[in-house]
Amino acid sequence: MRKLPSLMFLFFHGIFLAFLPFTYSNLTLDYYKQTCPQFPQIMQQVITDKQLDFPTTAAGVLRLFFHDCMVDGCDASNLITSTAFHKAERDADINLSLPGDAFDVISRAKTALELQCPGVVSCSDILAMATRNLVVMVGGPYFNVLLGRKDSLVSDPSRVAENLATPSLPLSKIISLFGLKGFSVKEMVALVGAHTIGFSHCKEFANRIFNFSESSQYDPALNPEYANRLRKLCANYTEMTEMSAYNDVMTPGKFDNMYYRNLKNGLALLQSDQAMAVDKRTKPYVDWYAANQTAFFQDFAGALEKVSVYNVKTGREGEVRQRCHEFNNYKGPSGRRSHI
Ligand code: HEM
Repeated sequence: MRKLPSLMFLFFHGIFLAFLPFTYSNLTLDYYKQTCPQFPQIMQQVITDKQLDFPTTAAGVLRLFFHDCMVDGCDASNLITSTAFHKAERDADINLSLPGDAFDVISRAKTALELQCPGVVSCSDILAMATRNLVVMVGGPYFNVLLGRKDSLVSDPSRVAENLATPSLPLSKIISLFGLKGFSVKEMVALVGAHTIGFSHCKEFANRIFNFSESSQYDPALNPEYANRLRKLCANYTEMTEMSAYNDVMTPGKFDNMYYRNLKNGLALLQSDQAMAVDKRTKPYVDWYAANQTAFFQDFAGALEKVSVYNVKTGREGEVRQRCHEFNNYKGPSGRRSHI
């Protein structure tokens, strides 16, 4: 009699497992070895050319990838463009500042790959691989990119805001946002080290440099000289909305641990970055990474690899898009299927 419950458990457990959607354990490092052996070379060529011509590409792609993965998984859902009938993730407020060069390099890679191996390589794999290669190209750590993701069949802008942090969100909320997706505080601090490259628009930190409080024009946590320089740079930011500052004022184009050293010296640009430097849950990691670039690289690589397989779609959960910015069943304004 005592055996019955455990046998029943095994039976139902077996059925349950059989119906679980495929997970990232279906991904492999050499997924395209037979079907598109030129994949690594083509990717490397395209991203190198683009990064050399437009050095802001790496940061743009890294942020694009993060924003894609955090909203229902790494499935290229934020590469879809809106149509007259359907607003896409890409047009959610927080994604509007993703730079055109980031989308462009993915579309260039897709075009080159379609010429060699039509209908084979997914846009989500292209985005993951481009991110890794670009991080390495600007001096950051290498990590493995498992392959075999499928591209999403949906792109829902209403899913974006609840899944991505903004600089004004209290740190506890940011920690729980990452926590809900399985990322520890340590992994979160390592990932935000991505702010060692790239830009932020003035509106993202304007509250820290203008009319901060009754007693101070700017946030006293900021280095005064830095605050004054930012105030000059952003003086007309409401009219000149494209005005931006480097996230890492010391070594802006280099992927290194300077971002954490900046946090400790009053050179944090975003309120959320500043909060990480003082909160007792995050400060120990900030201090550790500021002192030890090797530790930062190791943890960043591990955490970004984990991001890269977050909620991926495989098998029939998605498709290999023919063009990254539209679903395969997109008929175009004429009602007919459009071609490359
Ligand atoms: C605490 C969580 C985070 C917040 C609140 C945050 C917020 C922001 C904001 C407001 C910007 C400026 C965007 C602009 O004005 O164009 C930015 C830029 C950037 N973020 Fe984050 N971010 C966070 C975490 C991350 C993570 C985890 C990554 C990647 C792993 C990342 C990668 C980047 C990159 C590379 C840029 C520069 C983009 C460019 O130059 O085009 N961020 N972030």
